[in-house]
Amino acid sequence: MGYFRVNGPVRLAGKVKVSGSKNASLPIIAASLISLDEVVLKNVPVLLDIRTMIDILEAINFDVEFLNGIVHIKPDFNDVNTNVPYELVRKMRASFNVLGPLAARYGKARVALPGGCSIGVRPVNFHIDGLERLGFEVNIEHGFVDAKLIKPSSAKIILPKPSVGATEHLMTTAAALEGIEVIIENAAMEPEIVDLQEFLKKLGVEIEGAGTGRIMVKGGVKNKKVTHEVIPDRIEAGTYVIAIAATGGEGVVENLNSEHLNSLWEVLEKIGVILKVEKDKVYVKMEGRPKPVDINVSPYPGFPTDLQPQIMTFLTVANGTSYIKENVFQTRFLHVDELKRMGADIEITDGTAIIKGVEGLSGAPVNGTDLRATAALLIAAFIANGQSEIHHVEHIFRGYENVCEKFRKLGGNIEYIGVKEYIE
Ligand code: EPZ
Repeated sequence: MGYFRVNGPVRLAGKVKVSGSKNASLPIIAASLISLDEVVLKNVPVLLDIRTMIDILEAINFDVEFLNGIVHIKPDFNDVNTNVPYELVRKMRASFNVLGPLAARYGKARVALPGGCSIGVRPVNFHIDGLERLGFEVNIEHGFVDAKLIKPSSAKIILPKPSVGATEHLMTTAAALEGIEVIIENAAMEPEIVDLQEFLKKLGVEIEGAGTGRIMVKGGVKNKKVTHEVIPDRIEAGTYVIAIAATGGEGVVENLNSEHLNSLWEVLEKIGVILKVEKDKVYVKMEGRPKPVDINVSPYPGFPTDLQPQIMTFLTVANGTSYIKENVFQTRFLHVDELKRMGADIEITDGTAIIKGVEGLSGAPVNGTDLRATAALLIAAFIANGQSEIHHVEHIFRGYENVCEKFRKLGGNIEYIGVKEYIE
């Protein structure tokens, strides 16, 4: 397992370009399973998770090329394999979302039940209940989920929580079922879901409402040969904005959609960060110590759980005590003990992190536990006095394209010691 060696402190400064969205690309690649013909996706980030999803389509016997951020998918309707290998689903839970499209298009499919992960228990009950409402028979045994299409059924599905994955899984599966009419209530409203809707519309599906809590789908794929450009990655963008501000730096983060990050701009302004927000870029500058703030992490358009570890790092050196309530993944705090090793003063009670600001952090060997926690530790290492080593750093290659190069360009003193995994 490789690690990053980082020397701090540094004031990150300069320009950084945001890549395409991982969390828009993954459901759109899965939705390509319902296409009638070739699909070309542009602005797809070169990441381990994208590679895993492409490996799954190839295991299903789709022909996929991934070069220079362009994914070219050619369905093969003859010898499709509808049993998705366990070792691929184990690597990335988003692969579970191929179950519905596969079973809708080919009558049945088998996918491994995703396990938990370091940010908490990750159930799929909303997915399974929804598939049953759409007319599938779903059985779980020996760690696998089998779905069989019995009778495509129109339905009104009310999600108990605005689940991103369940919303995407069910809208894609409904899109594949000719002639049914489906309404998804309490749907998640993330920009990635709006991007998935745009892709399904290009496939000729009648679908409306993504971005609101109510999505309506009339099943049926009509168009062939579809090309789609994926939206910018709002979480990558937010990570770099926080990194520049947290190190007291100055820079421009470009090639983003600033409307996707309104909840972050609001928090950063309360902290005292100087921002000039334009449509596709943001100028960020930080002088002096950050002010403490209270943050209520919640589903979009609330403050995103995927930026909670990163903003927590920033607040470890604030001039006072901050509170972060994590309402999406209650146990998404494995980065806290690692930040405490670097001198942070944080206590967790009942899903809330209480962060008492300290003067500064000190470099230390720390452990990355998941994708966003590792990003948070990287920011901490740039703030800290002295050398840090961030171990199990492969997590970060799952979600941050060219992360070393991008931080080096901003002045970060970062070295990766390990074997770079083949991605493209
Ligand atoms: C997506 O995960 C993202 N992943 C996550 O980003 C993100 O943290 C999360 O949404 C929340 O925004 C991708 O888009 C690939 P959920 P997902 O279903 O879909 C509960 C990253 O770092 N739930 O919206 O798995 C669940 O336990 C990753 O890029 C059920 O109870 O999240 C959680 O409490 C990490 N039953 C809540 O809903 C279900 O069937 C929200 O989870 C499904 C979810």
